Amino acid sequence: MSALNDLYKQITTCKKCDLYKCATKAVPGEGAENAELMFIGEAPGFHEDQLGRPFVGQAGQFLDKLIASINLKRPEVYITNVVKHRPPENREPLPNEIAACNEWLDRQIDIIQPKMIVTLGRYSMAKFFPDKSISKIHGTAFKRANVIYFAMYHPAAALHQQNLREAIEQDMLKIPALLAEMKNVPEVQKEPKQLSMF
Ligand code: URA
Repeated sequence: MSALNDLYKQITTCKKCDLYKCATKAVPGEGAENAELMFIGEAPGFHEDQLGRPFVGQAGQFLDKLIASINLKRPEVYITNVVKHRPPENREPLPNEIAACNEWLDRQIDIIQPKMIVTLGRYSMAKFFPDKSISKIHGTAFKRANVIYFAMYHPAAALHQQNLREAIEQDMLKIPALLAEMKNVPEVQKEPKQLSMF
């Protein structure tokens, strides 16, 4: 069994917080084990909970379009969430639920070792940039320990707000150049450093 499948098995039976009690299926994540690009959303919604797959509802269809806009196919990237079980009534995940789930996300990152982590929305941004505001740092790349971190608005928020939609579409288009450029970008050891090209 691959390391990722072994992890999925553990996530599926996770009882570290109460979210599993109301959920239909766990939603561990999906995509290529060797993906360069990893997207991290917030939490599964209704459709994700039914199917056990991340981003398969309306926001997911928009994310698929965004991924296609940079000439990638969904199976070539990795997609997951901060929280692996659906919060009841799609409420926002609570701090204790995020903390309980954090180990799974860290292990996914360890296994996949993406070159670039794209956070979708405030909750996943907060894992890497706890003091930042998404309206300020979206579309800005930071490199730390040879990984680029890049915050974007959540596709669900951007779906119905034209200004956010334009921002998320434009931010997405920056990704290929950042991935290509990173080989030439000097490593920054401590503080995340804003890349000069944007
Ligand atoms: N929103 C998320 O943050 N994640 C999903 O998987 C679906 C919708």
